[in-house]
Amino acid sequence: MTKITTSTKIAADLDKKYCRIVLTQDKPTWHRLVETVEGTLEYRMGVGKWKNITRRTFRTLVRSIVQTAKAHQLGQIAIELDVKAFSQLEEFGSQWVYRTLGENLQLAQYEFTKYKTKDMSKTLLKEVVVCGTLSAAEKTAFKAGLIVGESANITRDIANTSGEDMTPSKLAAAAKEALAGTKATVKALGSAEIKKAKMGLLEVVGKGAADKPQFIIIEWWGAGKPTVAEKKAGKKQPIALIGKGITYDSGGLNVKPTGAMHEMHMDMSGGSAMIGTMRAIALLGLKKNVVAFIPAAENSISAESMRAGDIATSMSGQTVEILHTDAEGRLVLADAMTYAETHYTPSVILDAATLTGAALSALGQHASAIMTKDKKLQETLMELGENSGDLVWPLPLWDEYKSSLKSSRADIANIATNFSRFGGCIEGGTFLSFFAPKNTPWAHIDIAPRMESIPSDKLAKGAAGEPVRLLVKFVEQHG
Ligand code: BES
Ligand code: MN
Ligand code: ZN
Repeated sequence: MTKITTSTKIAADLDKKYCRIVLTQDKPTWHRLVETVEGTLEYRMGVGKWKNITRRTFRTLVRSIVQTAKAHQLGQIAIELDVKAFSQLEEFGSQWVYRTLGENLQLAQYEFTKYKTKDMSKTLLKEVVVCGTLSAAEKTAFKAGLIVGESANITRDIANTSGEDMTPSKLAAAAKEALAGTKATVKALGSAEIKKAKMGLLEVVGKGAADKPQFIIIEWWGAGKPTVAEKKAGKKQPIALIGKGITYDSGGLNVKPTGAMHEMHMDMSGGSAMIGTMRAIALLGLKKNVVAFIPAAENSISAESMRAGDIATSMSGQTVEILHTDAEGRLVLADAMTYAETHYTPSVILDAATLTGAALSALGQHASAIMTKDKKLQETLMELGENSGDLVWPLPLWDEYKSSLKSSRADIANIATNFSRFGGCIEGGTFLSFFAPKNTPWAHIDIAPRMESIPSDKLAKGAAGEPVRLLVKFVEQHG
């Protein structure tokens, strides 16, 4: 792991071992590594005109610094930023700049080395020093950024781990480990309790696997746990965060083809995002109430697996005809929503799930899809997306779409009864809307497009750790 600190010294006054990163207004393709007469290394990087730097390009700029340091095996680097020069960032304040700097230094230094046998320590970036006289508020913002980035990296570690090493019970253990030492509590309901709670959809999805489903609940009562009277009066209601926790998605009996299966160890990215988010919230000590729910199951193939055509009863009481065993994420999320509403009466529900390949068809790989009937919530999430870097874009959640899911044998089907693949991302959100509580604002975030990084992200290959930054910011601003 890279040590990331701040120093009130100017970079030139630091020990010679630090390579000084000097940003210039040259084109971003312009790079020079020079040795000064004092014998120190200086890396000059063109980043384009200061005045053209936006929130989006600032994040990439920070990541580029780290990637450059790694590529040149610089080991230890010092960065000086003239925040005021970035005129477009002024309206967001220097705290935004330092928060973003902290987050993106962390995200960019990350490498997934769990299964590498070669000693990687030589090429890893050992240390980053951010030089300058930061105000107390800027320092706090920077430290918060480091916590959020580090938490997103834990999310990435969990998602990058193979399905064999991250089964439902191992995911529950990973959640406990990530939250250990914080004041958040983690519990996991096993098979018997899931049955008792009547979460028939979570049960049916995981019954073909050797390691049976777990329902992971992480509670954080930063504003104080509501008393029975407060609960009745609707006070101190928590934010509910629900994350899809399919630890491996083979597709089930409707098995996935070659090339579409091997990355499905990341199908718990929504769940791992909730683990990272809760860790960040707890370490930041946010004075908010938040409960995360992770329905965890492996969608596997065996004689015990659910069959296409099977009918299962959800916790809500609605029966579901499973027309396609690969549309499993929506099933486990449906029960999680009912559980959250029944036991916690949340003020708002957000779910994040690698729900559909169709989300990638709709948006490509630059943004997650959001679906909500709540205009204000949609606006908030879109702005926080720009603010945090976890970009989201809306798709409709209209009642017109509901009719395609009306089943002839059960109450609803988990895919369109005519097997149409059109609007598959919306179909996923529409299915969930049958289980969303009537009077609680709810937004569904299909993070399949952002499950893994793409080259322009300037991040390590594999899990992207989204939407941890967005969710933390959502919790911070929630009334
Ligand atoms: N986990 C997948 C969706 C997915 C695909 C996420 C690619 C990330 C990358 C999900 O469970 C799934 O299999 N969805 C099906 C739904 C279909 C059967 C209606 C899909 O997208 O094909
Ligand atoms: Mn699937
Ligand atoms: Zn899936």
